[in-house]
Amino acid sequence: MRQEKAPGLLLVDMNQGGLEETARLVGEQAGMLTVTADLADVEQPKRLVELAVDRFGGLDVIVSNAGVLIPGSLRDLTVLDYERTFAVNTRATWLLGQAALPHMEGKGGAIVATASIGAVMPPPMIGAYGPSKAALTGLIRLMAQEWGPLGIRSNSVSPGPTLTGMTQNQYGHPEGRQRREAAIPVRRLGVPEDIANAIVFLSRPESGFINGIDITVDGGMMTTLLQASVSQAK
Ligand SMILES: NC(=O)c1ccc[n+]([C@@H]2O[C@H](COP(=O)([O-])OP(=O)(O)OC[C@H]3O[C@@H](n4cnc5c(N)ncnc54)[C@H](O)[C@@H]3O)[C@@H](O)[C@H]2O)c1
Repeated sequence: MRQEKAPGLLLVDMNQGGLEETARLVGEQAGMLTVTADLADVEQPKRLVELAVDRFGGLDVIVSNAGVLIPGSLRDLTVLDYERTFAVNTRATWLLGQAALPHMEGKGGAIVATASIGAVMPPPMIGAYGPSKAALTGLIRLMAQEWGPLGIRSNSVSPGPTLTGMTQNQYGHPEGRQRREAAIPVRRLGVPEDIANAIVFLSRPESGFINGIDITVDGGMMTTLLQASVSQAK
């Protein structure tokens, strides 16, 4: 194991093509490492944390961003799909944090997970996605309490509708996009940079007194949900 910390970035995804594209967007950096791994596999988080520590001599930040959305109604949802959704969207964050604990304890560290506005207002027909993100924000609040005294901060970011691979089918065509944009006060979809900016903030020392919160990054969409229910009640 290295004795001194070296700047480094370990990027992980189960999709090799997507991983290469992300690495290209990040740009060539000394110490950047890409690893293809399935975060639903219980062995992987520990292996990845140890790889990062071994390569970089320590660990400052974990961003647990991988997520899966398996569409379908609760009536038709299979146990396998339910479990996979929770394994990726919830359990992986806990296992990454648990594995990082001995390396961050007493040295300081930040864990940031990507939740969703669906944690609070779960949209129908997307399986266990909403509940898995609700469990994730609960997990983050618990990590904040148990690991805060060890110098590790845990927070999450909840994106609203954001144009990515996950939502390409929904928002990739003008009709779907315009319908969604009409429901967002700033009248545009989120872009990955909007979400990344909040994650970077929660990762940095500037947010050193912020622990156990969720930042909603949705252009104000959540504020309109109350409005919609009030006008429905009229
Ligand atoms: N796009 C949105 O509107 C939106 C809204 C709310 C929350 N989110 C959340 O944002 C995060 C990023 O999603 P995105 O929108 O960029 O979608 P995306 O599908 O483009 O990215 C998700 C990534 O996670 C990877 N992944 C999935 N399962 C994995 C596994 N088992 N192991 C390793 N990697 C795995 C996928 O390969 C993919 O690259 C997710 O947690 C998602 O739930 C997205």
